[in-house]
Amino acid sequence: PAPGWSVSADVVVVGSGVAGLTAALRCEAAGLRTVVVTKARLDDGSTRWAQGGIAAALGEGDTPEQHQDDTLVAGAGLCDEEAVRLLVTEGPDAVRRLIETGAHFDESEEGGLELTREGGHHRRRIAHAGGDATGAEISRALVEAVRARGLRTVENALVLDLLTDADGRTAGVTLHVMGEGQHDGVGAVHAPAVVLATGGMGQVFSATTNPSVSTGDGVALALRAGAEVSDLEFVQFHPTVLFLGADAEGQQPLVSEAVRGEGAHLVDADGTRFMLGQHELAELAPRDIVAKGITRRMLEQGAEHMYLDARHFGATMWEHRFPTILAACRAHGLDPVTEPIPVAPAAHYASGGVRTDSHGRTTVPGLYACGEVACTGVHGANRLASNSLLEGLVYAERIAADIAAAHAGDGLHARVPQPVPYDGKPAHPLLAPEIRFAIQRTMTEGAGVLRSEASLATAAGSLDRLHAAARDALAENGKTAEPGVDTWETTNLLCVARVLVAAARLREETRGCHWREDEPDRDDAAWRRHIVVRLNPDRT
Ligand code: SIN
Repeated sequence: PAPGWSVSADVVVVGSGVAGLTAALRCEAAGLRTVVVTKARLDDGSTRWAQGGIAAALGEGDTPEQHQDDTLVAGAGLCDEEAVRLLVTEGPDAVRRLIETGAHFDESEEGGLELTREGGHHRRRIAHAGGDATGAEISRALVEAVRARGLRTVENALVLDLLTDADGRTAGVTLHVMGEGQHDGVGAVHAPAVVLATGGMGQVFSATTNPSVSTGDGVALALRAGAEVSDLEFVQFHPTVLFLGADAEGQQPLVSEAVRGEGAHLVDADGTRFMLGQHELAELAPRDIVAKGITRRMLEQGAEHMYLDARHFGATMWEHRFPTILAACRAHGLDPVTEPIPVAPAAHYASGGVRTDSHGRTTVPGLYACGEVACTGVHGANRLASNSLLEGLVYAERIAADIAAAHAGDGLHARVPQPVPYDGKPAHPLLAPEIRFAIQRTMTEGAGVLRSEASLATAAGSLDRLHAAARDALAENGKTAEPGVDTWETTNLLCVARVLVAAARLREETRGCHWREDEPDRDDAAWRRHIVVRLNPDRT
């Protein structure tokens, strides 16, 4: 039987952060019939939580070349230089177009953009909004623009799988739609171009800065569809996340790098600034170095966290410049105006993802990926702070241009694929939501900031057992967990967790945000290359 409902479009954009909504707006402006589907509401997802800002060479004396240099250093030898060049050269105009779309950034007294610094940047080049609420402002502006332009949107729609035609070309996506909307149940959007902009996978770990919707759905879909995925071992742990106790689970409040950019110090319980002497930029070293510095000090001292001391900012600066962080701290009974903030690293950003070329094309014809779900090559082994919103913007515009060109040429209309019928039944076992917690604990313990072959092997064994139990139950009694958002998310989490651990075991070196205690050195001779994974669709 056909899906419960279906709609047709020229392009379906899956996800509604900076990448998804920018791609959708630009596709619509190019005259393409565009549908946006998103798992929760249009303004849910990671973009809204971004604090520090968006990096671009917009300041006096700054140049794209200097931005490129900092990006390449942070990426620890694994950036794609052409992808970075496109990011930094097209970035400033992409930010200006975002401003034209309606986003308001903080301005200096002289009237230009007020720019701050973050880790790994040798210059002030981070534009911000509402002090430390940059993502919320970008999300507001883009959602308003999407509504004003009357784009078709389907909220509360979890993407399930890619539809392809007999030639393996993209034909749309299947969706599980929840709630009171007009499209309840499983459905499909048929379209010859699909833009995955589903964000990250932070929820694969037990403590993360990512919202609960960041469950790796796009990477899992791409893997099931036979697309190539790259660099999954490079999970960035943000150095300064508010420490709420060793047992805290799920999304944790971020304390932006911009706080260090404005002069906050990292100190241990004795008040010693332990990053001095570790790197010329001290607290503003690239993120992997600061996360390692904090973790090392925690291990040396048997401490559960370190402290970020910004008492010297005073109340007025805290209220004006960092209102979101101030409110989050106070909500947890801490006052950064009078006491240092307890902080520890937590999972923050997937530097890897679905492999794309410089137009955002994946290895499956018609399937694009953009934003955190993608691996364009700009981040290498460690993303430079505040390059992610920029990547979402720049590559969304490149994707829209590519789809529009294909559509205008002989492209999309001429070869509108016939979708494969889909009966709404999962093609592989779905996992019970109860194991989500076990996956997250396993990943934090075995594949967190500090890794080794032993810890990764233990994690791989646990994940394999969870997978085998679900597969055996399906084989024995034909039963799988009821299809639903929780079961799909758990299935996706396990899928990406297994690939991530396999990649982390393979990479027997320490590089960027992949830290192997048993392989402490960077090994350029053997490992200046990428780990690319493509699953056999029958074996997911
Ligand atoms: C932050 O504000 O520290 C986060 C910035 C980023 O992840 O790029």
